[in-house]
Amino acid sequence: MIETIATADSNRELAPGYRLLTLDLKEDVPVRAGQFAMLKPHASLEPLLRRALAVYRVHSPRRISFLYQVLGRGTEALARVENGGAVEALLPLGNSWPDAIGANQRVIVVAGGIGSASVFMLCEKLASTGVDTQLLFGARSEPTAIGCGLEDFRALGLPLTLTTDDGSLGEQGFVTGALERELLRSGRPRSTIYACGPWVMMKRVAEIAVQFEARCFVSLEAPMGCGFGVCVGCVVAVKTRGTNEYGSYKRVCTDGSIFPAESIRWEVDPIAH
Ligand SMILES: Cc1cc2nc3c(=O)[nH]c(=O)nc-3n(C[C@H](O)[C@H](O)[C@H](O)COP(=O)(O)OP(=O)(O)OC[C@H]3O[C@@H](n4cnc5c(N)ncnc54)[C@H](O)[C@@H]3O)c2cc1C
Ligand code: FES
Repeated sequence: MIETIATADSNRELAPGYRLLTLDLKEDVPVRAGQFAMLKPHASLEPLLRRALAVYRVHSPRRISFLYQVLGRGTEALARVENGGAVEALLPLGNSWPDAIGANQRVIVVAGGIGSASVFMLCEKLASTGVDTQLLFGARSEPTAIGCGLEDFRALGLPLTLTTDDGSLGEQGFVTGALERELLRSGRPRSTIYACGPWVMMKRVAEIAVQFEARCFVSLEAPMGCGFGVCVGCVVAVKTRGTNEYGSYKRVCTDGSIFPAESIRWEVDPIAH
């Protein structure tokens, strides 16, 4: 993990409320698929805390991109960073997508909304290794699909099912409906699901995984303070007693952000409490 001041190479709007920030780093930073960074504009006291963003793409060890939705104070401040502007970055953070693919495995990646940012590098890797992969990409509408990187995902050439809530692009409906259909089509055993999206989506993905006896890993989003295990602001309730002093809670920043879906107490939403 390094703490550095990076330079914004570009920070462009992909669709209303969705942006792509590309940073140049001063040193090589090895990043694995699924890891994240804590970012804020340099020398800005408002907001004080950095915000967590998944590393979307690694162009080179010194050049990386983040795909983000402009939601509140932190991401609004990031959206104002101009080309050449300075960004405080702490990275790489968190674990990475586990390589759970055994012989004859098939993989289903479920990208819901801006959760797409966490799975792009995983999809890149799957596309390059030729693993039997289905990509299920869900967004609210056509503009949000574009804002969540749809064109980049399409360029990978993986078999892709696109759903939008309003039917403006792809199939109308939730991405979880496409997941159920895919599992019915491909048969139960030997599927591994990787998912990132809103809590309610991942909760349903976890239920479907149990129903179809599929292995399932999810990348969780909890509000974060520090990003490296100190503030305990990011805890999620887990089913089994953990090995640390937090008992049946785990820190998303250092124990995750990626967890086996069956280990999570899905009835306790970390954003809602
Ligand atoms: C490991 C990790 C990776 C993430 N990767 C990305 C990413 O690649 N792209 C991206 O756009 N976002 C990502 N997020 C979510 C992002 O960190 C939050 O949306 C951001 O912190 C909001 O900050 P804000 O100051 O703009 O909004 P705030 O003013 O803090 O919040 C605005 C609204 O968003 C809700 N919110 C706050 N934090 C979160 C959160 N962590 N998850 C969901 N809702 C939240 C609040 O309840 C509020 O309603 C990630 C979060 C984590 C933990
Ligand atoms: S964000 Fe501080 S412990 Fe996880």
